[in-house]
Order: sequence, then C-alpha cells, then structure tokens
Amino acid sequence: MGTTVDPAAVAAAVEVLRAGGLVAVPTETVYGLAADATNVDALHRLYAVKGRPADHPVIVHIPPGRLDEWAVDVPEVARRLAEAFWPGPLTLVLRRAPRVPDAVTGGRDTVGLRVPAHPVTLALLEAFGGGIAAPSANRFGRVSPTTAAAVREELGDAVELVLDGGPCTIGVESTIVDCSGDEPRVLREGGVTAAELEAVVGRPVPVGGTTAAPGTLPQHYAPRARVELVASSDLAARAEAVLAARERAGVLALRSDLPDALPAVVTLATPGDAREYARDLYRALREADAAGLDVVLAVAPAPEGIGAAVTDRLRRAAASR
Ligand code: TXA
Ligand code: MG
Repeated sequence: MGTTVDPAAVAAAVEVLRAGGLVAVPTETVYGLAADATNVDALHRLYAVKGRPADHPVIVHIPPGRLDEWAVDVPEVARRLAEAFWPGPLTLVLRRAPRVPDAVTGGRDTVGLRVPAHPVTLALLEAFGGGIAAPSANRFGRVSPTTAAAVREELGDAVELVLDGGPCTIGVESTIVDCSGDEPRVLREGGVTAAELEAVVGRPVPVGGTTAAPGTLPQHYAPRARVELVASSDLAARAEAVLAARERAGVLALRSDLPDALPAVVTLATPGDAREYARDLYRALREADAAGLDVVLAVAPAPEGIGAAVTDRLRRAAASR
C-alpha cells in the first residue's frame, strides 16, 4: 500500500489507548475513532464524543488470529469468511465471548469483529495486543472521514491523537455479515462485494437482517447539503432548475454519466468506475459542505459490485431530509 509505519507514532497510540484515551486510526475503509474495547470508561467517552446513543453497538478491531478470544460458537462459514477476507473490509457479527463488555455490544449477546487491512492500524493492533473498539470517526449520523484532515475537522480536540495513514483506499465502510443466526445475512453492504461473499459461502448471501443497526437507519452518512439522486439523462435539466432557483449545486457522477453540456455547477468528483466512486464519495460530500453548496446532484452507479455500497450510502444521504 506504500504507507510507511512510524513506530514512534504507533507506540504513542498504544500509550493513549492503555491510559483510556481516544485515538483516530486509518483503515482501508474509513478512519475509525478507537478506544480499548475492554475499558468501559474509555468506551463511554467514545460514545460521548461521537454523540452516539449508548445502545448502538461498535465494531471491535482485533489482531490477526485472535477471533476465538472475542467470539464463541463460531460457525464454520464465519471461519471461512474470516480466512478469505481478513485482514480486509469485512465485519462478522458473532456470539460474544464473556470478556466483551456490554458497552461495545449495546447489551446484545453478539459482537461485531473485524481485522482491518491498513498497515498502520495492523501494527497498532499487534503492539496493543487487545481489541480496539472503533466506530467511524465522524459525529453520529454524519459523513465518515477518509483522510486524517477530515478527522481533525470532524473531531478537533476531542481526540488525543490522530494516526495519519493517508487517504483510505476503499472509501466506504466494511461489509457486515451476521453469522450469529442459522444463515449468514448481510446487515450492511460495503467493501466486500456480493459476488465475493457468494464465492466463499457457496450461495448468495441475503441482504437485510432482523437486528436493527444504526448504520442501517435511513438517515445516515449525510452532509449538510441536500443530496438529490438524479438519473444521468435528467442531470443537465436538474442542474438548470437548481441554478434558476438560485441554489448552489455540485455534481457527483461517473465520468461516463456526465452530459456533454452541464450548466455551471461545481464538479465534486467524476470517478471513472465504481471503485473510484467509492473512494471519492465521502471526500466529495465533505467538499460540498466546505464549499457551502445547497445541493449535491448525484448519479448513482449501477448497484453491482462495490457500486451497491455506494448506491446504499447515496440513498441514505438523500433520505436525510
Ligand atoms: O469499515 C468500517 O466498518 C468502519 C471502520 C472504522 O472499521 N467502522 C464502522 O463503524 O463503520 P460504525 O460504528 O460507524 O458502524 C458499525 C456498524 C453499525 O451499523 C453497528 O450497528 C454495526 O456495525 N454493528 C456492530 N456490532 C454489531 C452487532 N453486534 N450486531 C449488529 N450490528 C452491529
Ligand atoms: Mg459510522
């Protein structure tokens, strides 16, 4: 990945975590706001900083090879998924081991576990040795940060240390697969695609679960600007109308979906494919706010591969008004 790991920064982060503090950490998906997953006081502070309700569970990030310290009754399919996708953008929901405090599970009997693929945070996990609870490093309901600068802007002094690992390479959150019931189910689409899951599980994994998770609330991932989903064929006309209403607009669309002539709007991102769309999405939504735009006109990619996660996040952002 080309990211160099600074051992002094990792050691400093371990100290902060051991002292019950908060560290922002890079992952391949989005930046996380990390606390020692067994320190209940640190977890309370984490929830307070995020402004997150206490009954919402957070993902515990673990070093490679430590699954059985955090989960019990792990089904064979979960082991195969972990084997195939860890380290990587997959979170497994499993029955929790006794050491997992209620504060990370929102009182549930399950826990969300993930081994992230970023070299800096892998080094931190190895050095720390324990589990790190880390929700995305945004305030509750807002856009996840994908750069260290976005984390600082979002959280300011509320975090003791920000580990800078460069821009996130995937750009949308992990895929969450619930393996705590009879059959695996996708609770949130993300960095691992439906086809990749199917190849390991041996059949399609249904999307949608019985457990409500906060990332699955309709209102989520939203900038201050209003997000409107637009068909590519309507984009030019919609941009005209918005400008005529004296609103400031930005456009987010695949390069191939841009019309030849587009009225004067801010081009937030013109990704070449769905992977680039995922990588650019949250940065573009943040830029819309930084530029003080009223509206983001977004053409969603085809909901295939990682395009499914992009479309899901755009729909939630659009549903926020
Ligand atoms: O890519 C990611 O997953 C990022 C990076 C930092 O790892 N993390 C992330 O965390 O997106 P957060 O807290 O913003 O979203 C975690 C999601 C929530 O929707 C939460 O409800 C769900 O995971 N979750 C965690 N534990 C769960 C559990 N035991 N049962 C059901 N859902 C769970
Ligand atoms: Mg989040």
